[in-house]
Amino acid sequence: MLDIVILAAGKGTRMKSSLPKVLHPLAGKPLLSHVLGTASTLGQQDEDASDLRVVIGHGAELIKERIGSDGISYSLQTEQLGTGHAVQQVADTLRDDAITLILYGDVPLIRKSSLEELIELVDDETMALLTIELEDPTGYGRIMKDAQGSVRAIVEQKDATTDELAVCEVNTGVMALKGKQLKAWLPLLSNTNAQKEYYLTDIIALARQHGIEVATSHPQDEMEVLGVNNRQQQAELERYYQEHVAQDLMNEGVTLLDPFRFDCRGELEVGEDVVIDVNCVMEGEGSLGNDFSICRKVVFINCTSGNNVVIKANSHIEDSILGDHCDIGPFARLRPGTQLGKAAKIGNFVETKKVQIGDGSKVNHLSYIGDTTIGKKANIGAGTITCNYDGVNKFKTQIGDGAFIGSNSSLVAPVNVGNNATVGAGSTVTKDVAEEELAIARGKQRNIANWARPSKK
Ligand code: UD1
Ligand code: CA
Repeated sequence: MLDIVILAAGKGTRMKSSLPKVLHPLAGKPLLSHVLGTASTLGQQDEDASDLRVVIGHGAELIKERIGSDGISYSLQTEQLGTGHAVQQVADTLRDDAITLILYGDVPLIRKSSLEELIELVDDETMALLTIELEDPTGYGRIMKDAQGSVRAIVEQKDATTDELAVCEVNTGVMALKGKQLKAWLPLLSNTNAQKEYYLTDIIALARQHGIEVATSHPQDEMEVLGVNNRQQQAELERYYQEHVAQDLMNEGVTLLDPFRFDCRGELEVGEDVVIDVNCVMEGEGSLGNDFSICRKVVFINCTSGNNVVIKANSHIEDSILGDHCDIGPFARLRPGTQLGKAAKIGNFVETKKVQIGDGSKVNHLSYIGDTTIGKKANIGAGTITCNYDGVNKFKTQIGDGAFIGSNSSLVAPVNVGNNATVGAGSTVTKDVAEEELAIARGKQRNIANWARPSKK
């Protein structure tokens, strides 16, 4: 049985931000969400597993609003009197015979495997502490050991003697112990120290006083226990995270032309022979088919793509579904609700929104197509605009199979253009065009002979 407590009440002063620190993003997702995600995969076997307990203070309302309360119970720490005081806020919700695991909302990359290893160490006679050797231990609590090499205490940086400061094994803050022990010791904490805080770390010395052994384990990777305290650390963790995503994708067979110029802020499923050029940003839930190729500087948000698709440079594609053999861009903008059939083509400077475009149809240049259904093998000429909005309401345009819309036409919705119908270039179409018809709706050309241009006055 496991009770998880996540501390997230601190302000994060060094972020210099009005946003509570734990809401700052890593890979497009709040720091706290990363920790919650990992925490929620632990102890799933536990039938009466309780909610994740999150201690909040600064920006409490905003945190609740953004993170939601699905499987989470929040406790308010109105004054931040220290990490021990923070845990005191949830003490009476902890089960005596469950293991309590303490995590931090601003330490986002902790891995499940490291936590499982830590929890394994805990029994009625042993508590567990995650520690790490750092080349530069500045700022961290130092691990003090007795002559037998057992942990006897943690000394915070600000309370440490010169000798103690020389110790390089530090406290990551992550610990696990039996609920009844934690609950017995929390009231014994005092704040007679340099920071006048109730240190959770004093639990270690209390454990020893009560005859409980303190076992340690270590994370596989230093990054797992690094916290975000300022924008530099946030950027470092972001890079580290992105390098790992890139490595995972390459292991799955993706070609990244430069893994250091690739960002994935979400989940990406990939087929075989996916090639991604530099400076692409993938956001949300994405799925790429086989033989998919994406040129440089493409933004790809929540899209699903079929096989043999090419997205050319500088395109921005969001909430769209792309059929097999589609060809998109360069400089295309596919807005939410765009669905492309097989071998559809969207060219440069084309904007689409809420459109279904049938197999083999083309919108090749300089167009806006919104709230529209286009059949198969239609050709939409350069500069075609669907006028879908009258300033108040939106209306639909329908274009049939094999239709040909001449360049620079305006289709004033609601309007239907039938199968194999033709619209002459420069037309403003306000009435339906039936199958096979030609519509021409433009001023007639007059030519005036010997026209004298105005002269300069
Ligand atoms: C703490 C540890 C230190 C360890 C380091 C690892 C203590 C006393 N010290 O120091 O041994 O090496 O973490 O990063 O625990 N928080 C609250 N309420 C509070 C105080 C803190 O929720 O009243 C939260 C903060 O939001 C933060 C976390 O607890 O996420 C750690 O607090 P912080 O003050 O940063 O601890 P450190 O001084 O870094
Ligand atoms: Ca502190």
